Amino acid sequence: MERTAFMSPSRPRQLTLTMFTIGFGYHNDAWRHPSSVAEQVGSLKVVAEMAQAAERAKLDAVFFADNVASGAIRKNAVRGASFYEPIATMGALIGSTEKIGMIGTMSTTWSEPFQVARQFAALDQLSGGRIGWNVVTSINGNENFGREQMPLPEQRYERAMEFVDVVLQLWDSWDRDAIICDRETARWVDPDRVREIDHVGEHFRVKGPLSIPRSPQERPVVVQAGQSAAGIELGSSYADLIYTVQPELDAAIAFRTDYRQRVAAKGRNPDGVRILPGIMPITGRTKAEAQEFADELANCIYEPGGREVVERLLDVSVADLELTERIPLERLIDGPQRMERWKLFRDLSQEMTLGELMVHVSRAVGHRVMVDTPDRIADSMIEWFEAGACDGFNFNPPSVPEGMHRMFDLLVPVLQERGYFREDYEGDTFRERSGLVLDEPSTVAEPVG
Ligand SMILES: Cc1cc2nc3c(=O)[nH]c(=O)nc-3n(C[C@H](O)[C@H](O)[C@H](O)COP(=O)(O)O)c2cc1C
Repeated sequence: MERTAFMSPSRPRQLTLTMFTIGFGYHNDAWRHPSSVAEQVGSLKVVAEMAQAAERAKLDAVFFADNVASGAIRKNAVRGASFYEPIATMGALIGSTEKIGMIGTMSTTWSEPFQVARQFAALDQLSGGRIGWNVVTSINGNENFGREQMPLPEQRYERAMEFVDVVLQLWDSWDRDAIICDRETARWVDPDRVREIDHVGEHFRVKGPLSIPRSPQERPVVVQAGQSAAGIELGSSYADLIYTVQPELDAAIAFRTDYRQRVAAKGRNPDGVRILPGIMPITGRTKAEAQEFADELANCIYEPGGREVVERLLDVSVADLELTERIPLERLIDGPQRMERWKLFRDLSQEMTLGELMVHVSRAVGHRVMVDTPDRIADSMIEWFEAGACDGFNFNPPSVPEGMHRMFDLLVPVLQERGYFREDYEGDTFRERSGLVLDEPSTVAEPVG
């Protein structure tokens, strides 16, 4: 039931909160912590308990990342291991959850739009409108899809732009009231309200219509996380939610301001697009308890693996360095191919010893980390929100189940008490509950003639 406070016009805008649902915990090697459920990862039990805990905390959605290159598991790099294939996992979770949204990743480089439109539409029907699609173009996987090399980023994004356009056309190929179900006249569907799309483009030829009726939420929610110019072009054209790596307040404000302008320039309403930086809250009842937990997790880091994370992110060799040394600046060679994140890590590497940097990147690979009391973490989240740096956050649970439960049991209630987060769900679908209302209905129903 709605509370009176929720009806008050003075209620602050609400945060949108989702969770990176990774059974090993997001912190590198958190699975080695004695409290982890590492033996059971891959089972429905682990992921269902995570989704149910997120639902009890009233989160907007659980998010499933994915990649199709699995070589890193042989080095025991479990964080990147995609055991939980998103389509299968979301399907399995429909029966274990009731209201929480579920966002699954699917690559536009390694799939076809008709198939993707169909799978997400089917899940959306089965779940009563709780599904989202995280559109990625993939940075690897060519060896599993018969390609000598990865297509260049601009080629991948060009395909992705047309891909998403086709998927949206397919989702829109059924009008809302296409199903008549008239036993008398033997008309189950009105044929005029289910259209072929006849798409002929550079990459795809798709006739349509989709084989599945219109989504209970008009369209599944579209999510995007690219931070290159081409990634931002894709997200600002089509996405409802944007995931981003933003550890600094000023840069986050600039990113969101620019993004909203790009969304508006495309004729879309910027308030319909939510920008969600990642955050890893490592918390406890006191600051000392939070710090103690952070230290326990840092002690889980397997040193050779931790060094590899630094080497990969900075594209540098640190094999000869002691953990107490800093990476010599001359080893870090800038160039046009460097991402913004590389520059951030380069600057950090000059402020921290290799050991400190290893812990820092092992925690959340550049996402913001806070080791603090729930009150102080909530203060900071609200400060970012009020300053226009974000519309909410994607939680990176430090460990599972312990780090995740601390986040839900200690931090989320503070956000609720302050009035910045819902105490119960309102609305019938993910889109409605999260206020991701589409600018305009894509089809206007005609009266039945
Ligand atoms: C929170 C978050 C989740 C992501 N999830 C995935 C994923 O599941 N699979 C994937 O291939 N890439 C994933 N990415 C990477 C992005 O899709 C994108 O490639 C990356 O942010 C770099 O942007 P760019 O491709 O525009 O350079 C994710 C990024 C973020 C910030």
